[in-house]
Amino acid sequence: MQEQIKKINTLEKLQALYTATFGKNGTMTARLKQMRDMDNDARAALNRENAELRELFKTRQAEIENAVMMAALKGEKLDPSLNPMPENRGTLHPVTQSLREISAILESFGYSLRTGPEIEDDWHNFTALNTPAHHPARDMQDTFFLPNGNVMRTQTSAIQIRSMEKEGVPIKIFGIGSTYRKEMDATHAPQFRQIEGLYVDKNITMSDLIGDIRAFLSAFFEMDNVELRIRPSYFPFTDPSIEVDMKWHGGKWLEIMGAGMVHPNVLRNCNIDPDKYQGFAFGFGWDRLAMLKYGLDDIREFSASDVRWLKNSGF
Ligand code: PHE
Repeated sequence: MQEQIKKINTLEKLQALYTATFGKNGTMTARLKQMRDMDNDARAALNRENAELRELFKTRQAEIENAVMMAALKGEKLDPSLNPMPENRGTLHPVTQSLREISAILESFGYSLRTGPEIEDDWHNFTALNTPAHHPARDMQDTFFLPNGNVMRTQTSAIQIRSMEKEGVPIKIFGIGSTYRKEMDATHAPQFRQIEGLYVDKNITMSDLIGDIRAFLSAFFEMDNVELRIRPSYFPFTDPSIEVDMKWHGGKWLEIMGAGMVHPNVLRNCNIDPDKYQGFAFGFGWDRLAMLKYGLDDIREFSASDVRWLKNSGF
């Protein structure tokens, strides 16, 4: 029996012999049934034989299983000439990519990047921008107020003030950053991004402003020469103030940005003499521009972090 077990080399045959030995009608089963008629020595010998046989079956089963696995592995070969799985590389977030593109355009016009804090004090976000407490224009922006009286920056115009206070004039800068307002729908998110240009020097005029806006929009939208419509508007920190519309594909006019000549009070608040210097500022929502350029219709996609969208957003 022992020899027989060792010669078996398939699990099926081993199972058959096991059943023939230990099954209901098995040879060992039959012998065990007669145990009570045996003397002590014979009984002990049978018990030992029974245990040894079972152990032998177990060992052989493990050996056969191992041999089957080794045979399977032997057939498998590593083919180093096969192409590897495609690499899943990350990229910069579309928001970052687009902001960098805009920075590059403005830098090529001679503007230098400035940033500022997203938690602003009342002075930089409102008061210095000719919007003192109780000024009705504060209502134009649904502000998040912090318990200590600071605000979540509602506009990048705060960067103008910080830069003029620190650097004086002449100054030609642009600010980029997150801004916050209490609004939320498909075209408004509570956190959005603004870009703001500021150019103050001697003899700066409204024509310089419109020229730069036109050049910027043409470059960003990759259009030959965008058609603009200038409408009078109101911002407390510019005078005169304008709103700029751009002719879109299909002849539709789209509101694109606010701008104007820096208000003399704003210059004075930054210790600049408005009789000697003047300049312009323009500001726009990056999210809106990006939605137009890439044909998106829900602003909330930018912050959903859906990898499928990030890969196919067209950026
Ligand atoms: N800060 C204005 C806004 O958020 C935009 C603006 C910037 C207008 C600069 C004029 C000049 O609506």
